[in-house]
Amino acid sequence: MGQQKTILRALAGETLDVPPIWMMRQAGRYLPEYRATRAEAGDFLSLCYNPELAAEVTLQPIRRFGFDAAILFADILLVPQALGADLWFVTGEGPRLSTITGDADFARLKPVSDIHETLNPIYETLRILSGALPRETTLIGFAGAPWTVATYMIAGRGTPDQAPAHALMTQNTAVFEALLARITEATIEYLCAQIEAGAEVVKIFDSWAGSLKGAAFDKYALAPAREITAALKARHPGIPVIGFPREAGEKYIGFHQATGVDCVALDNSVDPEWAAANVQIDGCVQGNLASRHMVTGGEALVSDTRRIVKAFSGGPHIFNLGHGITPDGDPDNVQLMIDTVREGASA
Ligand code: CP3
Repeated sequence: MGQQKTILRALAGETLDVPPIWMMRQAGRYLPEYRATRAEAGDFLSLCYNPELAAEVTLQPIRRFGFDAAILFADILLVPQALGADLWFVTGEGPRLSTITGDADFARLKPVSDIHETLNPIYETLRILSGALPRETTLIGFAGAPWTVATYMIAGRGTPDQAPAHALMTQNTAVFEALLARITEATIEYLCAQIEAGAEVVKIFDSWAGSLKGAAFDKYALAPAREITAALKARHPGIPVIGFPREAGEKYIGFHQATGVDCVALDNSVDPEWAAANVQIDGCVQGNLASRHMVTGGEALVSDTRRIVKAFSGGPHIFNLGHGITPDGDPDNVQLMIDTVREGASA
């Protein structure tokens, strides 16, 4: 029997008349119903670790917009927390973590076998979602890529240029590589547990891949993505993997083959025609509308949406933004994007 879910069909390499669609950060602060549930939970981390409420916010954008996929509500920084890092969020600023500056900090991290103790509520969220989603909606699990997660663990916060992580890479390569290996192993266990709890696809977010150049990209972005993908495919054959090496530029070329991922997610710094010719020739792509259109809307949103749908119409494509929707995004613009994609077949 053929696969019915459109996201899974695209990930299997099928070219569809209308691309399936979901949106990064589709459960988030631009939605009043999200803000209400988050207030009920108390704070962001309490929401992540409350399976009923995390499932509820995951479902909100599905109910409102009928997206083709639901993405688990959680955060990439739960893995560092499960490995023993302190984690908190400063309202209006972002995440804060205890830092890793050398061997002593690394030695304090927990073994990978301990992570499930912290992450069990996340698996429960997935089990709830598996039973609650509409039949046609695909459930996506996710984790951060080792490099991106390491940038936060080393600096203790988000950084514009990932300087502390680059410094540790140079000054204490052994501890830097040990940290990447620990995160890689934890990510494999975490994603396998997500799949066992009901995730039908997993996505690896390497939001800061663009700051790795040349051989460093190959070693710290490509190699970990390949290792994670190979381990997942060995244990769960048939579960598609989406890779997102954000801002990789020319390094998007060949990413499918180099890592074994089924789909490459594209940010909005690359032209869709370029990406169709250079990346989609190797398999499914996802993206790449600029998130700012969700704030500004109008004719520019419609024309860029149509351009992307057209550019990728010759191969497998999942429509998405190039990065997450921001809190000032307007739900009406999200609806306009969806209507444009779904009417796009006839435009
Ligand atoms: O996409 C989804 O709807 C699923 C849930 C999801 C969240 N974060 C929820 C979230 C996913 C997939 C993520 C991934 C994530 N988290 C990434 C990779 C993708 C990217 O955006 O580059 C990164 C780097 C993080 C770390 C993180 N979490 C930061 C830097 C911040 C603060 C910035 C911000 O947007 O506020 C978060 C917080 C966060 N994660 C929020 C949400 C909905 C906002 C928290 C809130 O409600 O106050």
